[in-house]
Amino acid sequence: MKVLIKILKILLFAILLIYIGAILVWNFSQPAVKWKKEDFKIVSEVFPEDFMWGTATAAHQVEGNNTNNNWYAWEHSLNEDNESTIHNNDKSGKAADHWNRYPEDIQRMQDLGMNAYRFSIEWSKIEPEQGIIDRAAIQHYHDLVDSLNAAGLTPMMTFHHFTQPIWFDDLGGFEKEENISLFVKFCRLVFEEFVDKVDYYCTINEPNVFITGGYVRGDFPPGKKDPQLAGEVLFNLLKAHTLVYRTIKALPGGRDAKVGIVKDIFVFEPRNRFHPGDWLVARTVDKAFNESTLAFLKTGYYNFEFPPVSISKEYRIGKGSYDFAGLNYYSHIIFDFSFDQEKALEPHMPEDEIKTDMEYTMYPEGLYTAIKRIASLGAPIIITENGVADRDDDIRGLYIQEHLSAVSKAMEEGYDIDGYFYWSLMDNFEWAEGYDMKFGLYALDTLSQERSLRKGALTLKNIIQGN
Ligand code: FCB
Repeated sequence: MKVLIKILKILLFAILLIYIGAILVWNFSQPAVKWKKEDFKIVSEVFPEDFMWGTATAAHQVEGNNTNNNWYAWEHSLNEDNESTIHNNDKSGKAADHWNRYPEDIQRMQDLGMNAYRFSIEWSKIEPEQGIIDRAAIQHYHDLVDSLNAAGLTPMMTFHHFTQPIWFDDLGGFEKEENISLFVKFCRLVFEEFVDKVDYYCTINEPNVFITGGYVRGDFPPGKKDPQLAGEVLFNLLKAHTLVYRTIKALPGGRDAKVGIVKDIFVFEPRNRFHPGDWLVARTVDKAFNESTLAFLKTGYYNFEFPPVSISKEYRIGKGSYDFAGLNYYSHIIFDFSFDQEKALEPHMPEDEIKTDMEYTMYPEGLYTAIKRIASLGAPIIITENGVADRDDDIRGLYIQEHLSAVSKAMEEGYDIDGYFYWSLMDNFEWAEGYDMKFGLYALDTLSQERSLRKGALTLKNIIQGN
């Protein structure tokens, strides 16, 4: 009996030690970051003169008349309950008619004092059928790029921002490894067209959001809920990114081009920092969503762990396949442990923070941590997206001010950041949220197509002018 009690005591002691050890390691490796009011100041001297100040948009969200891609098909399809999965049953439709109104939109960027613009090109417009190239569509993007250059705005072009042609989806899209070459071919064609006038290229926007929406949550096309497939598609996207990068680098002018991927970093945290279960959920999601991609880019090894899914692959030339690291940052999410996996994965917002119109709070400290994290890729960083959905425009100014203070703090500490692109120039079609989310520096009236400057935008304008 005595021996048994002794063993039990040792066992309990060991469990206690493991618990304390794990909690300490986790808390040290990802400390809670919370700043005081006075910490949010912008050190304007840190922004160099050639710092890129811009806004970001994506073709499908602003151009209008995209009727040949996966999102168009998705907007016009119904789920098993016979409902549209898009808020209010919205359709992208004419969007912001940016296809026709880009000249006046460029003027707006200039009015705000900007010197750069990130946009995406619509594959389904350039290649409406497999192998058929629409020269008029390419000409449109030439006109856009020429106008940007003439206006002193550095163009940054994204090849894939969530949309792909219907014919590509019909072939299985990125679910099939053999389809990757079709995307690479398209990017090569575009690069060869624009090499003389565009320096910055983003290969793929937010591969992790693409797979989370399309293959985990199922609220993005193709609307599947299949984590195994999600992990495979993510690998194919990273492979596609790598091949686009390596292909461009080998082309004339490729060495001088700056090619990168756009990684969104969401900060995932435990609700209770002393609860191993909460940590377990936060770390599991972080590994699948953030670390899988970051580690691949750093090493060429791919590990996607999302229990029970476990995928390991290697693609060594993925290592270092970027000239800059594009960072999109919006917020953080907290998790509560539950034995019910679906419940455990429910995202929560901290109650003590300012809420935005999306299901996230305002957490500028997270941009600072995200910068530190993406800096591990060892390349210059460009904040390719950061912005807030705020229909009343009462927190936009503060949001911009505080997030730029996080950027300036990181730069002061020596992090190499080359640009900041606010999402977005004007309100636009916010994917599954339809037109309900108002991210724009300009409010958009979708009926009259009128744009009106929001007060919050002046904060950004003043900060840019201050530099
Ligand atoms: C990002 C997307 C972008 C936009 C913003 C709000 O995840 O890249 O298209 O929808 O969110």
